[in-house]
Amino acid sequence: MIFFNNITKIYPAYLTKKEKIVLDDVSFKVEKGEFVSIVGMSGAGKTTLFNIFLREEKPTKGEVFFNEKNIHKISQREGCEVRRKVGTIFQDYKLLSSKTVYENIAYAMEVTGASDENIEKRVPEALDTVGLLEQALHFPYQLSGGEKQRTAIARALIHEPEVILADEPTGDLDPYNSRDVLGILLDLNKSGTTVILATHDKEVINSLGKRVITLKDGKIVSDSKQGRFIL
Ligand SMILES: Nc1ncnc2c1ncn2[C@@H]1O[C@H](COP(=O)(O)OP(=O)(O)OP(=O)(O)O)[C@@H](O)[C@H]1O
Ligand SMILES: [Mg+2]
Repeated sequence: MIFFNNITKIYPAYLTKKEKIVLDDVSFKVEKGEFVSIVGMSGAGKTTLFNIFLREEKPTKGEVFFNEKNIHKISQREGCEVRRKVGTIFQDYKLLSSKTVYENIAYAMEVTGASDENIEKRVPEALDTVGLLEQALHFPYQLSGGEKQRTAIARALIHEPEVILADEPTGDLDPYNSRDVLGILLDLNKSGTTVILATHDKEVINSLGKRVITLKDGKIVSDSKQGRFIL
């Protein structure tokens, strides 16, 4: 379903004379319904991989296929369709501070032209999924870190994505809230959503017992079914 085929990403030299090889011939497949963690030290290229999948960056070499389509060779319109099938969650939540929880999620639907009727139906469903109905009218500053991340998850779910990319979603959370967020990701995965999680959180990885791909110096150094944190 997702296929990174011989991906190399090289950033040009700026102040130093040396160009930076961030990803060096990286290949892997993710099947529909899998839960895969991408592990690597800071700077290993995890976010770069996500940015390439989100079409925010182009690979220097190689192709990425999503549902058999080379995502860097499709039209703008097809690109938007693909983008809608992918929900994203980040360490810093990326919520709009002047909007409530409800409005943050509704806004993600408004920008794609969803009807008011559909928004009024879907937003409470998504809030219910992440256990945030009570906080619907809170602004981000009135939320705990865990609640902010659950808002971001609800927003990522709103288009019923096929894939969720979670980039360090527990990076700013205490262990209790981390477990909460992971629990939600696992539940979503159980109901069929493919999840790709980038993290350097050892506890998280070792508690999951799922596939782990480990990146080091731009290469995949291990890809194992019931992976452990090995860095
Ligand atoms: N636009 C860019 N231009 C130049 N270099 C970049 C750019 N984006 C990322 N890099 C470099 O690529 C490398 C990988 O960065 P990336 O953000 O993918 O790492 P990461 O594994 O996500 O790290 P972290 O765990 O800290 O989030 C870093 O050395 C970074 O400086
Ligand atoms: Mg990163």
